[in-house]
Amino acid sequence: MDDSCIISLRNVTKEFDGTVVVDSFSLDIRKGEFVTILGPSGCGKTTTLRMIAGFETPTSGEILLNGEDISKLPPYRRPVNTVFQRYALFPYLNVYDNVAFGLKLKKVEKTFTDRKGNKVTKLVHLSPEEIDRRVAHALEIVDLDEMEERDVSTLSGGQQQRVAIARAIVLEPQVLLLDEPLSALDRKMRKDMQIELKEMHRKLGITFIYVTHDQEEALTMSDRIVVMKDGTLEQVGTPEDIYNEPVSAYVADFIGESNIYNGTMVEKKKVRFLGGVFSCVDDFPVNEKVEVVVRPEDVVLGTPGKGVVDGVIEGKIFQGIHYSYSVAVGKSEVVCRDTHDRKVGSKVSIHVAKDNIQVMHKDNIENEYEDAYIDSEGHLVIGEDAFPCDLASLVKGSKLEEEGGSVLLYDGKRYELKDAEVRANVAFDAVKMSDDLETGHAQGRVISAVYIGDHYHYIVRTDDEEDYEADSPYEWLINDVVAVDIAPEAFRLKLKKPLEEYEIHE
Ligand SMILES: Nc1ncnc2c1ncn2[C@@H]1O[C@H](COP(=O)(O)OP(=O)(O)OP(=O)(O)O)[C@@H](O)[C@H]1O
Ligand SMILES: [Mg+2]
Repeated sequence: MDDSCIISLRNVTKEFDGTVVVDSFSLDIRKGEFVTILGPSGCGKTTTLRMIAGFETPTSGEILLNGEDISKLPPYRRPVNTVFQRYALFPYLNVYDNVAFGLKLKKVEKTFTDRKGNKVTKLVHLSPEEIDRRVAHALEIVDLDEMEERDVSTLSGGQQQRVAIARAIVLEPQVLLLDEPLSALDRKMRKDMQIELKEMHRKLGITFIYVTHDQEEALTMSDRIVVMKDGTLEQVGTPEDIYNEPVSAYVADFIGESNIYNGTMVEKKKVRFLGGVFSCVDDFPVNEKVEVVVRPEDVVLGTPGKGVVDGVIEGKIFQGIHYSYSVAVGKSEVVCRDTHDRKVGSKVSIHVAKDNIQVMHKDNIENEYEDAYIDSEGHLVIGEDAFPCDLASLVKGSKLEEEGGSVLLYDGKRYELKDAEVRANVAFDAVKMSDDLETGHAQGRVISAVYIGDHYHYIVRTDDEEDYEADSPYEWLINDVVAVDIAPEAFRLKLKKPLEEYEIHE
């Protein structure tokens, strides 16, 4: 093992009541590194941190500290301390006593020479002088050295958070875990504290593992960012890597502002999107469907006809050193920045340098349900949802014996398809979402929403963990509960076993 690695998570999985919230998560964290775990609410960030701290035990997998498995070590035996989202200070103690609290309980090994001249080792409390020295040092690091006597209830939010940090670092951990420590602060205070935390990290020289759902915070402070999605690691890299080379539309959308489009490779290193053909540096097979990411600052506006495509300026916001424009190109929107003052309604051309076009593999292009089956009424069952479907489309030239049944007639024979296993495919844009929960054959919660140029791409998850991915021009928010419907003819069905297996022999 690389000895510069302090913490190693190996295929760590955590389940609560059978639901997987952290899924085979592996990561090596180097000594002295500032690593940020970034992801939306509920993706498993806190759970991951709590497993490192020892407040939760992994369901499977291992956590190594300096190469040794600590999965079974209780929290107080780990050289790790945590700063929580809501700083739990003792309101009736002053700053000094809050910070000294843990130190007064701490015992350290001390070696004496007894009367007979033998060396003996004992566990002893720290001396008052040692406690004073350590508290003073911790308070100096968090910049509260003049405040020892202050009542914590008289401190500002930012100062209280600093006391919480001092209380964690005074124990001299090798690793400091910080779970959204700045989320209770206002924007200005948060910005100042980001800079101070970075400075504390430098002074202390220990490892920081920081959790946040704020991408700006992650970009400004971290040596490396870990992007989490649904309990899994989606991408890990330096802030520059993650910003410039996102591996998926999910990461691109999460980090910084981006334009995301569906595209097609039309020749070697040429990609078509926004109705034009752009040169790019990524090589994908011709005709492959791809996703294209362009950052607003990389869009170059010019005289109409001089770029790759033309568009019309529809929106304009002055942002100090530049304008942010929204340009309509056909039905798509391009968000861009430009220092020239342009008029809303004017025509512009759009060009993007080939290095600034990020082409990505498209994960899926349609929903695929491997474990669907047919019920006695001839409905297609996906998870626990039953949808009307066109059973006769399973076998060319067949027809249904009777409406609302599951018997198929083909070539003079009868086939009972009740319980037959099928694979069902359905295009994203054939999945219709609605606020009217009475209308659909399934319902679920929106767990992901990514804007792709001229529409949104959603993932709707049902209570029994079935996902419906949908493309829609309409806007929903994460956590909205929606109905999902799919027209019978929109399913592409395939029997998993040969048709003969279902023949009815009279
Ligand atoms: N003790 C528990 N019992 C059951 N489910 C839990 C428990 N702790 C967390 N979960 C669930 O695990 C999932 C991940 O939770 P976690 O707190 O790790 O998310 P998070 O990424 O920290 O989110 P946030 O940004 O909102 O803090 C959530 O669905 C949550 O409800
Ligand atoms: Mg959390």
